[in-house]
Amino acid sequence: MAKGAEPRIRDSWGSRLGVILAVAGSAVGLGNFLRFPVQAANNGGGAFMIPYFVSLLLLGIPLMWVEWTIGRYGGLFGHGSAPGIFHSLYDRNRFVKYFGVIGIFGPLVIYVYYVYIESWLLAYAVYALTGAYQGADQAGMQAFLRGYQGIEQNRYFSGVGPAYLFFLITAILNMVILSRGIRHGIERLCKIAMPLLFAFAVVIAVRVLTFGAPDPARPDFNPITGLGFLWNPDFSALWSGKVWLAAAGQVFFTLSVGFGIILTYASYLSRNEDVALSGLASVSTNEFAEVVLGGSIVIPAACVFFGPLMIAPLAASGAFNLGFVTMPLIFQQIPLGALFAFLWFALLFLAGLTSSVSMLQPAIAFIEDEFRIPRKYVAGIVGLITFAATHPVIFFLGQGVLDELDFWAGTVGLVVFGTAEVILVAWIFGMEKVWKEIHEGADIRVPKIFKPIIQYVTPIFLLVILAAWFAQDWIGVIRMEGVAAENKPVIIATRVALTLLFGGLCWMVHLAWKKRKPARVRGGKR
Ligand code: ALA
Repeated sequence: MAKGAEPRIRDSWGSRLGVILAVAGSAVGLGNFLRFPVQAANNGGGAFMIPYFVSLLLLGIPLMWVEWTIGRYGGLFGHGSAPGIFHSLYDRNRFVKYFGVIGIFGPLVIYVYYVYIESWLLAYAVYALTGAYQGADQAGMQAFLRGYQGIEQNRYFSGVGPAYLFFLITAILNMVILSRGIRHGIERLCKIAMPLLFAFAVVIAVRVLTFGAPDPARPDFNPITGLGFLWNPDFSALWSGKVWLAAAGQVFFTLSVGFGIILTYASYLSRNEDVALSGLASVSTNEFAEVVLGGSIVIPAACVFFGPLMIAPLAASGAFNLGFVTMPLIFQQIPLGALFAFLWFALLFLAGLTSSVSMLQPAIAFIEDEFRIPRKYVAGIVGLITFAATHPVIFFLGQGVLDELDFWAGTVGLVVFGTAEVILVAWIFGMEKVWKEIHEGADIRVPKIFKPIIQYVTPIFLLVILAAWFAQDWIGVIRMEGVAAENKPVIIATRVALTLLFGGLCWMVHLAWKKRKPARVRGGKR
């Protein structure tokens, strides 16, 4: 047993279906319905899908299994977040647990901007029903979005007040769910929200795929051409490093691997509960939502109303434009459009909510497990701190704060954490031990080919991705190339805040272990 662990009763999942729905709930999010089509369209459609599936097989599925396995393992020692879980895997080195800080820092920072976007979806679901943007053309919808975001004052909005109100409601909702714990909060939410969001997504996807070609003069403006854009393979892009990076990044983001979240969720399992089949079930649920449903909505719909040549330019204008401008415009042109627009935003809101609660859980588990503070207080403290931290995102949205947070936490953080954990697991904890752990209580046998994949292919793949990043982007990012001069102070302030947060979390890890472990006698034996 790892040093410093004391047995104590932790929260647990109520059922097998509950934990699978919760992990799938974390995975299925805005990434599936907005980020995926944008990434695919920006990277050549069919050209993107081959690197995407290769990354899924060599990174996504192995990391999902690894995270379920080591999460359950760490939970047996009373640890529900990455520092403690890493420590339980290798307690002979006192620095290992500090790598785990990324697994709290990453999801916490992602939450800070994700929850704000989630609140826009709640607002737009309401606006779809009240007809607030009814009749707006493309320029009007863009003005509506900019006005709502507080970037400009116009005939729709005179300030950021409504956005703030919806943000407040969304943040409180997240806090209330989290304060109720794993079984009564997160699991209950996912058992209701997941079937609902799947039903909404199926209804919308079926509606989009039955659009036909509304204009006989333009027969290629149809949903099937849109599907062809995504599914006709293009092998020429296999040599493009940029497409590989985008595909691997999407696999991480969509599956919620590399965040530290799955480790935390799995830490509430008991030793004999399956992780092999459950891990695979959560990947399959997410991929169904992403490639089947997510792939059948935005791109085919954009193809019907704007034509195949406009798919890439629309995607290049960003996920927000596609989701909040293009899709409502499309729904305005069909019967019962307000209802479909409501379903679209409600689906995204539910997908966002089941993901955002999972992003705060690692920080909550860390404080609860390592400092023994009751959950209801911790959920309030973490909720309030992140609530305050979202304010710069709201008030400096136009100055790039959101993109900066997304870059460090949602891109670099995920890959660095994924690399650290797979090396720790396969090379330090030991591949034989991991393989045995995966099969403890398992309902399936993981194909043997995944043993060398986890041991060699996944770490090498990740190291290559990191090296490519360093080579291509590092200097430019540090020098803030492409950042407007007037935005540089805001970006620098954001980086300072991120550094302080990371340092603060490291200090908390230090305190937690100092409190628990007797001081080591200088020169003495461990
Ligand atoms: N996995 C979550 C998403 O796709 C974060 O949005």
